[in-house]
Amino acid sequence: MKADILIRAGQVVSAVDKKSPLKGEGQAKVMVLEDAYVAIKDGRVLAIGRGDGREYCDSNTEIHDASGKALIPGLVDPHTHLVFAGWRAEEFALRLSGASYMDILAQGGGILDTVRRTREASEEDLLLGTLNRMDEILLTGTTTVEIKSGYGLDRETELKMLRVAKEAGRRHCLDIKTTFLGAHAVPVEFRGKQKEYLEYLMTEVLPLVAEQELADFADIFCEQGVFTAKESEELLGKAKEYGLKARLHADELVASGGAEVAAELRALSADHLLFASPEGVRAMAKANVIGTLLPGTSFFLKKRGYESPRRFIEAGVPLALGSDYNPGTCPTGNMLFVMALGVLQYDLLPEEALIAATLNAAYSLDVASEVGSLDTGKQADLVILKAPDYRHIFYRAGSQLVDSVYKKGILKVKNGQIVNHN
Ligand code: NIG
Ligand code: FE
Repeated sequence: MKADILIRAGQVVSAVDKKSPLKGEGQAKVMVLEDAYVAIKDGRVLAIGRGDGREYCDSNTEIHDASGKALIPGLVDPHTHLVFAGWRAEEFALRLSGASYMDILAQGGGILDTVRRTREASEEDLLLGTLNRMDEILLTGTTTVEIKSGYGLDRETELKMLRVAKEAGRRHCLDIKTTFLGAHAVPVEFRGKQKEYLEYLMTEVLPLVAEQELADFADIFCEQGVFTAKESEELLGKAKEYGLKARLHADELVASGGAEVAAELRALSADHLLFASPEGVRAMAKANVIGTLLPGTSFFLKKRGYESPRRFIEAGVPLALGSDYNPGTCPTGNMLFVMALGVLQYDLLPEEALIAATLNAAYSLDVASEVGSLDTGKQADLVILKAPDYRHIFYRAGSQLVDSVYKKGILKVKNGQIVNHN
């Protein structure tokens, strides 16, 4: 078979999909081909290999030259809060002067501040903001993204957020997966009535989310001062009955039993995890739950005092990396920056970080049969870097390194500019 497009690159780098998330030593094994090609047919990877790939070419094949540049799979961001209204620079300044994230939330700010503004925002404005942020992350190499609700905390606005995410997915070339996060915080009208709020979510919101097919997954903020491990088990158990697979915000600020719940429920992923207990880490390894680390969040919260996340690799937990893009704790969705933080702040190796942001992230979203690596037959989602070696992602952290992005074999970003985002 001949290719529609053949890209010749200085370096082609990818995880090799062995049909399960990579963990332990396996997470450090990437395929690196110098002076190589990617052949694309009907938007999918036809072949990759060393050399010029001329065997895949005929007179109809377009040849794209990326010599001297590194090519990696499109990045998969498995954790974002992309739908929101308004930024929170004032809160950021308060935190820099010593206020804690949790105190601000307890006083009705933080997440609840974004909730007020998201409730007020029109569906159209939310959609515009979301599409702009999708452009922003496409420019930094993301080609698949998970989007959560959780700034509505009432039926109407939770459904509105999920509708916006779905519509954004239809209009934009990025592939999306959506997550119902009604249990992101207790809204002011339910203050002191946490049980009633969860009951409301389970009886009056979740059934509609499921019926209208607005979400793939359900999530909860399992954290001291927010929702308990027991409440998480109950809500996510209920969501499972409605066909929504579980993922969790777990042990972000203190050990809260989230990793244990994730293992118990066989969640697809437990996220944050800096303060997960040793038992929780072991249980996750045993249950094959992916650990999604969000180093942008701890960076912007100036979090310290956590053990090296290498403990997850050592315990055999497959690791993914996500941005957590949101207006509070991580106001960027730049996965290249996140990968660099994974290496420079979380002690991951470049190979581990690449796999975490591609193949393992794809597994955590249940989309690895389509994306996450350059295996034959997967979507041709690719990023070409303005660098000869993919390790420049880490070595030159913060630099604008994206040359081109292909989504399903179609050029979406060229010379660092969007040419077409639909
Ligand atoms: O993942 N931790 C909870 N939720 C988000 C923050 C949301 C916000 O502050 O607006 C997070 O960090
Ligand atoms: Fe989050």
